[in-house]
Amino acid sequence: MRFLVSLILLTGLSGATGVDDLARHVQQVESIRDVKDVTATFAQLAQFGRYNEMSSLFTDDGVLLWGNTSAKGPQAIEAWLKSDAGDMNGIQPGSLDTLVAATPLVNLGADGRTAKGRFNGWRFQGNGAGKTRIQGGIYENEYALVGGQWKISLLRYYPLYDGDYADGWRNFGRGDLGTAPPFHYTTDEAGIPIPPNVADAPAANVTLEELQHRIDLLNDEDEIRNLQNAYGYYVDRRMWADVGDLFGRNWGQMTIENVGSFEGPHGVQQALREWMGPEGLSQGVLNEHLIFDTTISIRSSVDEDLPRPAEKIADVRGIEIGLIGDADNNSSSWRFGFFHNTFAKQSGIWQILNITISPLMVANYSTGWGNGSALSNSNNNKTEPAFLLPYTARGKRTPEPRSIADRLDTISELQRRLNRSAAYDGTENVSNAYGFYIDFIDGKGCSNMAAIHAKDGNKESPFAGFYQTRQRVLEACTSYYGTTERTARSGISFHWRPQPVIHVSRDGRSSSLRARLLQPSTDKNSAGTIRGAIYHDQIVLEDGVWRLWSVTIDEHYWTSNTWKGGWSGVPARARNATNPPPRDLIAQYPPDLLLTEIGDPRETGFMGGTGRYVAWPEIQRMWFAYRNPVSGRVPDSYWPGCVPCQHRPAWNLTNNGWQEPPTGPTVVRAGFGAGNGSAVDEPVRVTVSVTAGPGEPVLGLVTLESQTKEVKAEYTLTAEDGGRTAFSLPRNLSSGLILLTARFSGSDRLKPGQDTIDFVVPGGPYR
Ligand SMILES: *[C@@H]1O[C@H](CO)[C@@H](O)[C@H](O)[C@H]1NC(C)=O
Ligand SMILES: *[C@@H]1O[C@H](CO)[C@@H](O)[C@H](O)[C@H]1NC(C)=O
Ligand SMILES: *[C@@H]1O[C@H](CO)[C@@H](O)[C@H](O)[C@H]1NC(C)=O
Ligand SMILES: *[C@@H]1O[C@H](CO)[C@@H](O)[C@H](O)[C@H]1NC(C)=O
Ligand SMILES: *[C@@H]1O[C@H](CO)[C@@H](O)[C@H](O)[C@H]1NC(C)=O
Ligand SMILES: *[C@@H]1O[C@H](CO)[C@@H](O)[C@H](O)[C@H]1NC(C)=O
Ligand SMILES: *[C@@H]1O[C@H](CO)[C@@H](O)[C@H](O)[C@H]1NC(C)=O
Ligand SMILES: *[C@@H]1O[C@H](CO)[C@@H](O)[C@H](O)[C@H]1NC(C)=O
Ligand SMILES: *[C@@H]1O[C@H](CO)[C@@H](O)[C@H](O)[C@H]1NC(C)=O
Ligand SMILES: *[C@@H]1O[C@H](CO)[C@@H](O)[C@H](O)[C@H]1NC(C)=O
Ligand SMILES: *[C@@H]1O[C@H](CO)[C@@H](O)[C@H](O)[C@H]1NC(C)=O
Ligand SMILES: *[C@@H]1O[C@H](CO)[C@@H](O)[C@H](O)[C@H]1NC(C)=O
Repeated sequence: MRFLVSLILLTGLSGATGVDDLARHVQQVESIRDVKDVTATFAQLAQFGRYNEMSSLFTDDGVLLWGNTSAKGPQAIEAWLKSDAGDMNGIQPGSLDTLVAATPLVNLGADGRTAKGRFNGWRFQGNGAGKTRIQGGIYENEYALVGGQWKISLLRYYPLYDGDYADGWRNFGRGDLGTAPPFHYTTDEAGIPIPPNVADAPAANVTLEELQHRIDLLNDEDEIRNLQNAYGYYVDRRMWADVGDLFGRNWGQMTIENVGSFEGPHGVQQALREWMGPEGLSQGVLNEHLIFDTTISIRSSVDEDLPRPAEKIADVRGIEIGLIGDADNNSSSWRFGFFHNTFAKQSGIWQILNITISPLMVANYSTGWGNGSALSNSNNNKTEPAFLLPYTARGKRTPEPRSIADRLDTISELQRRLNRSAAYDGTENVSNAYGFYIDFIDGKGCSNMAAIHAKDGNKESPFAGFYQTRQRVLEACTSYYGTTERTARSGISFHWRPQPVIHVSRDGRSSSLRARLLQPSTDKNSAGTIRGAIYHDQIVLEDGVWRLWSVTIDEHYWTSNTWKGGWSGVPARARNATNPPPRDLIAQYPPDLLLTEIGDPRETGFMGGTGRYVAWPEIQRMWFAYRNPVSGRVPDSYWPGCVPCQHRPAWNLTNNGWQEPPTGPTVVRAGFGAGNGSAVDEPVRVTVSVTAGPGEPVLGLVTLESQTKEVKAEYTLTAEDGGRTAFSLPRNLSSGLILLTARFSGSDRLKPGQDTIDFVVPGGPYR
């Protein structure tokens, strides 16, 4: 009853300022994502030489500045893109044009109608007839909201390294590199999700129902990005059981275009083993599949023909660059392609329905992509599924009648859920700010980097240990890199932090983040190299600014020490080689917690840790701070929370006034308990179990409900219940099929979860 009343009261047009404020905030968060999406779409289109559509993403007076060349207006931009690419355009057979714009740091202007964004850029090109080009640099772009659509008003690319395939890349201009391309933001701004509002919110003319729908889409998108990115990390390590779990219990299809297709959860695992090798990595095996420029479109599932009903469907599209190798037989290759996957939401959890990977170019490392693809039947023309363009990207913004939820949240609940999506962007922002600052590390880089830490935050200095407090993080950095700004650098190691998996706390004030460290390096004297590592961080909202709370880097998992040798040409360390000596920093400015103090098992095998140093091509253990996002499976190497906090509990989030973010789904399973009602006197009992991560107590409300509300019961789990309870069904249920939904409403620590089972009530009210 309460339900219906609130629906009627709140459905009318807005008038209350609360709704106007909420509407403005929704639009601000959407705007930040639109800016990322329009940039990702620019990148996706380049794979197919669709320069006309790329130029249509610009404003009428938009400008493209690529190094020292420029073009103004869509027509001139199209002409420039076309002539610059020439036959390295992804159209000519055997050609390649993979452009990525990674690691967004987006800032919305105070009026909400302009924005700026910094990205890392890569571009790999070839014409299929021997010609190749590689470019790397930084974008500092500007955007404008025109006629309700975000467009690029300035695409400004600062080239930092380039070269061809045979000789690899080197510093742009072949001399020293100078200071960083100008930053459009200050250290504080890097963590302010949305600038302070300068005026009252305008009258929004939207219903709360519409806003709820749009916030649902934003929340869904966060989960979908996490699922896509988490999938990528499991594939990299060939964790096939975990990949299999992501497909849920009811479906699964895995396709590699021109190679084959497999169905069902077991089929998927079989496909992966067949195409990519057995479970786990053996020495020298690299299976990195870097994921970039993902766009997402969410729709209602009503028209889908699925084995089981889903709540919603999402199309997920992006660019994949594979770095594949087997050092044992010195074979390695590049794979460029794109993916278009479909996810489904069921029982409140997003899971994978199907994955389709379309390779555009497969090239042996030794020969490169200049003469076309080694995969004879890959074909640039083959697949160009509909691009997910911005503004359709997140799904329709007005709710479809059939997708309107049967609930309407209060404004403050909607604001909380919106804050969680804003936190996702704030986290990504400050994470990328860190990478952009330490690329140009020196006295100034140190102070910028330290300034984006929380006052009492902590950070690992690689191979040494952790420093706590912003001040100590700063001094550790300057004691090593000095206090002056450098204006000439013979080389730079870049710190891209793409592919985040972000878990936001219930109150939206803290988060945890896993990201890659993707480290292309450039130098004036030798050809560039690439390395890979993993960050495990926590981020907090401190005094209204997103800041780094804890930063851990596990490095490196793989390296290419020379361009010629690539990642498969790295000699293994002798089994009996002695560990490298401790880093000078440990004596110069002793850490507050040494890696050796953390010791076994967390820091075993890492340089500066305990035990024998395990270096690529040997395989170092990989840690995860979260459980499987669909099944909740606990990984073999599991270390939730801030990495040093098990040794320094005073540094943990809960001891400092923030919530610990969830570590994965809360898996709810409803089933029939002993007694199925057939015995005359026995009531039907429904058992509900709620499973969280190890050491996470399940406390909170469990409800059991049927659609018709004939069944409606609740129970609050306490520590003694061990996450389980049972309900007896009433004895006067109408006959026929009833669906029973068990819900756990979540806690400060745990996500909500649910499960639905069906039950056929035999003819007539049963006893
Ligand atoms: C622009 O840069 C290219 C190198 O990318 C150089 O060859 C060319 O001379 C430069 N042109 C001008 C006008 O500076
Ligand atoms: C492309 O093929 C030609 C002729 O076979 C060969 O000379 C050239 O080295 C090849 N180029 C690359 C980049 O593989
Ligand atoms: C990211 O940082 C910029 C400052 O450079 C800030 O203006 C912007 O609002 C931030 N965006 C998000 C989503 O946090
Ligand atoms: C509010 O929106 C409706 C539907 O979009 C439109 O017809 C109406 O004119 C708008 N009212 C105002 C005051 O803008
Ligand atoms: C290298 O070894 C892997 C399996 O270990 C095999 O799949 C691959 O075909 C081998 N490559 C070559 C060139 O022998
Ligand atoms: C993936 O699933 C969606 C939804 O059922 C379907 O429309 C699409 O055709 C499927 N794609 C492939 C390649 O199977
Ligand atoms: C692996 O192959 C590369 C390219 O052909 C060659 O330069 C390198 O010497 C080889 N390394 C080993 C260990 O055989
Ligand atoms: C790629 O390498 C494999 C094994 O090293 C070799 O058999 C094959 O011919 C190479 N293909 C091309 C296109 O160079
Ligand atoms: C790709 O498509 C273009 C135009 O549609 C055509 O001219 C070309 O032959 C096609 N290439 C291949 C390899 O099929
Ligand atoms: C949402 O975030 C804003 C800004 O941090 C804060 O003022 C507000 O209290 C939050 N609202 C809820 C319901 O969490
Ligand atoms: C490692 O073993 C090799 C022979 O197996 C020997 O020559 C070398 O001296 C040993 N190195 C160390 C550091 O013990
Ligand atoms: C933080 O540390 C305290 C002990 O100081 C401990 O009770 C608490 O459980 C820790 N929080 C988390 C999330 O581990």
